[in-house]
Parts: sequence; C-alpha cells; structure tokens
Amino acid sequence: MSATSEAGPDGSSAASSPDPPSPAGGDASWPSRPGPAAGPGDGFLDDGSLSAPLGAADAGASVVFENVGHTYPLNGRGRGRGRGRGTEAVQDFSASLAPGSLVCLLGPSGCGKSTILNILAGFERPTKGRVLVGGREVAGPGPDRGVVFQEPNLLPWRRVVENITLGPDLAGKSKAGTLAAARRYLELTGLEGFENHAPYELSGGMRQRVALARAWISEPPILVMDEPFGALDAQTRITMQELLVSIWEKTGSTILFVTHDVDEALFLADRILIISPRPGRLALDVPSPLPRPRTYESLVVDPVHARLKREILLAMRQPDWVI
Ligand SMILES: Nc1ncnc2c1ncn2[C@@H]1O[C@H](COP(=O)(O)OP(=O)(O)OP(=O)(O)O)[C@@H](O)[C@H]1O
Ligand SMILES: [Mg+2]
Repeated sequence: MSATSEAGPDGSSAASSPDPPSPAGGDASWPSRPGPAAGPGDGFLDDGSLSAPLGAADAGASVVFENVGHTYPLNGRGRGRGRGRGTEAVQDFSASLAPGSLVCLLGPSGCGKSTILNILAGFERPTKGRVLVGGREVAGPGPDRGVVFQEPNLLPWRRVVENITLGPDLAGKSKAGTLAAARRYLELTGLEGFENHAPYELSGGMRQRVALARAWISEPPILVMDEPFGALDAQTRITMQELLVSIWEKTGSTILFVTHDVDEALFLADRILIISPRPGRLALDVPSPLPRPRTYESLVVDPVHARLKREILLAMRQPDWVI
C-alpha cells in the first residue's frame, strides 16, 4: 500500500483499487459507498508489507494534527524513570482526517490514544504542535466535536429522552425542535419505547446507545469515541458497531474512534492509524481496501481482510516497529 495522506469515504483523494475485493460470494452488485481509502493495488507494498506513516496536513481535511506532542507534568512526584521530565505520552503525531471519514486509532494500552483523542476534544492542550478543526486551532471543547467515552455517563435522574436532549437543553434550544430530533435518534438507535425509562432500567448496550444518541443529537461534524464498546459483551459489541456504521452513513460525521481491538478497527474503519507503544507515534497509516457494506460473516472469509489483519498483527508485534 502506498502512502496516501487522506482517505475519505468516497476514496476521492486516493487512487482506487483497480479490482476491489469482493465480499463472500463475490456479489458484484455491492454498493460502492464509501469506497474505501486505498492506495493503489490491494493495499500492500510489493513486498507484501503495509505502508509507511505519513503525516502531512492536507487542505480540506476536517481535522489536522500537526506535529502534536504531549508530556504530562510530574504532578509533584519526582521519583523513578523519567524523573524531572514528566510522562511523554505522544510524540510528533501528524495526521489529516478527510471530512466524513471513519478513522480508527489502534494501539496497545498506554500508548497515548486517549491523550490524542482528548487533545482533539479540547480536554487537553498539546505541549507541542497543534490540532486544527475546519482550519481553526482547537483551544478547548466545542459543540463541533461530540464525545463518547467507554462509560455512557448518563445522568441517573434524567429519563432516557432527557439524557439524549441534554446538550440542546443546556444550549437553550427550543423544546419542540429538540424533541423531534430526539425522536429521530431514539428511532435510529432502536430505543423507541424506552424514552421514559430511567438509565438504571436499561442494559449496558442500551445505555451506550443513549450516549451515542446524546452525542449525535447536536449533529456535530466530528465525533470522537474512546473505546465506546469496550465494556460490552462480544455480541452486543458487534451490534453496536453495525449501528454506529449505519448512523454514520446517514449523518456523514467525521469519526475518530479509539480501539485496541484489531477486528473492531478492520470492521469499522476507512483508515487505521496504528500508534506505537508510548510515546505514541504514528507507526502505520493503513487505508482500508475492504468494501462496504461489511459484515463479520463476509470479512472472515475475505482473503484481503485476512491478509490485512495478519500484517497489522505482525507489525504490532515487532519490537521496534515505528517506520
Ligand atoms: N492525566 C494524566 N496525568 C499523567 N499521566 C497521564 C494522564 N493521562 C494519561 N497519562 C499517561 O500517558 C500515557 C498514555 O495514556 P493514555 O491514556 O493516552 O493511553 P491509551 O493508549 O489511551 O491507553 P488505554 O488503551 O489503556 O486506554 C500513559 O503512560 C499514562 O500513564
Ligand atoms: Mg485510553
């Protein structure tokens, strides 16, 4: 796979595969949306390995990370490794996200994924570099970026519908418009009939669906998601991944989705940014050649998926894998 600096859902900025891999059964009528990513060919270099990292900022990108670095301060302790220097979580991270793309940040525990995501959300200021959203430098949280965490963090005293409308309510939006939007997201997330339930009356997957609806109701152009399905059982997790993709296809948001699960990244992403062990650096930039719609059933028998997964797993096991 050759390096491409921006991989949008329409594949517009990159050369497309001359012969995109077919899903199981080889149904040539599969819709092309969002025609993944893709450098030339099937996504591999001539030697069969994955691409080198990129990093340049691209005009028209909805999110640009420019040489972002982050070191957490010592916080009064001063002992042990790294004494006097704090914890360097992220180092020289650059990437551009195309509008409407679904990009996964994949990497081992502690490599700085949440730090990168929190910098985009505006919860952390980078100690080096900067992040641009729509061409403007991020200076703090804003309504243009919705956030979903691993825990749904619902307000227990508000009913489901009131949790979903929290953002517009706080912003003083009109009740009628907000309720109409809430109904749409209740339907999209399959929560109709539960609007008047309290959060404690829901299952874990349903609570996370409320959190998704709450993030999406304000229709932020960018959604940042930090392992939102990490606490769910395997079956619910797959259902939630399918739900996420189906709503994303309707809303066209740009999504940065953090995971340490290779299968989740392969199922969801237009593009996978693989982060090295701490300090987190961009190790590999992998545009996905996998066609949509995807199902786990089709992916497990897709040879391109198998090869991509193998290459990613091999890359992540190299002792010094930053290219
Ligand atoms: N608020 C903080 N103060 C100090 N150090 C922190 C803070 N948050 C994270 N770190 C450190 O930064 C490094 C990266 O943490 P981060 O949470 O970004 O990793 P991660 O890739 O999200 O890990 P995980 O997959 O386990 O969630 C870790 O070494 C962690 O100890
Ligand atoms: Mg994390």
